[in-house]
Amino acid sequence: MRNAPRNPVFAGIDRSDLQEARQICRNIAGEVGGIKLGKEFFTAQGPQGLLEVVGNDIPLFLDLKFHDIPNTVAGAVRSAATFLKPTMLTIHASGGPAMIRAAADASAEFGETRPWILGVTVLTSMDDADLLATGVTDKASDQVRRLAELARENGADGVICSPFEIEQLRADNGPDFKLVVPGIRPAGSDHGDQKRVKTPIEALQSGADYLVIARPIINAPSPAEAARAIVESLS
Ligand code: C5P
Repeated sequence: MRNAPRNPVFAGIDRSDLQEARQICRNIAGEVGGIKLGKEFFTAQGPQGLLEVVGNDIPLFLDLKFHDIPNTVAGAVRSAATFLKPTMLTIHASGGPAMIRAAADASAEFGETRPWILGVTVLTSMDDADLLATGVTDKASDQVRRLAELARENGADGVICSPFEIEQLRADNGPDFKLVVPGIRPAGSDHGDQKRVKTPIEALQSGADYLVIARPIINAPSPAEAARAIVESLS
């Protein structure tokens, strides 16, 4: 069983190179609450590479955003829980109630070591016009609330949300629903392609449970120092 996160910061190691990812992980593992690995790394290096980077103890956020028929998603959740034992993993809440429920039920089979199931609502890269192009006539903010509620009602542990959705989703879904938040920038850092950001402490004070931070850590001259400064800014 993996350790419990010692602080709320999960560092996203968005790299495809195994040695580079392993080096970054070695440098920052003692500072952050956990490590997030996603499609860029996983598609290049697979489950074996993932375990070479994070081992069996470091808290792991497996961000593969499963979206398929319920039976397949349940199988993917079982495979993840068996072989990778993530602390948390993502599914697309737009996969619907049966798919979310299948993921939650599959996770529950693993008892104490079960991964938290987190729903992705509306990708932050999509605006109202993009949603309309897919046939969704509601505003993105309403669709986020609807999908978060759908996730909760069908047994998900929480959702991924933008810093600006935290307060609404906390009010809608209560104190126990986990809100995991990317789009975080330490004061004074480069925003990259993230348009609407909050600082780590602002996001926590708004009600976030975990923060997902990638470039401000992994692109820093010293990732360990950058991670330490972020964690220190929280207390
Ligand atoms: O580099 P940065 O801190 O912006 O990266 C944030 C991490 O969270 C990346 O791994 C990115 O893929 C992920 N993410 C995001 N926005 C979302 C969902 C996930 O930035 N809406």
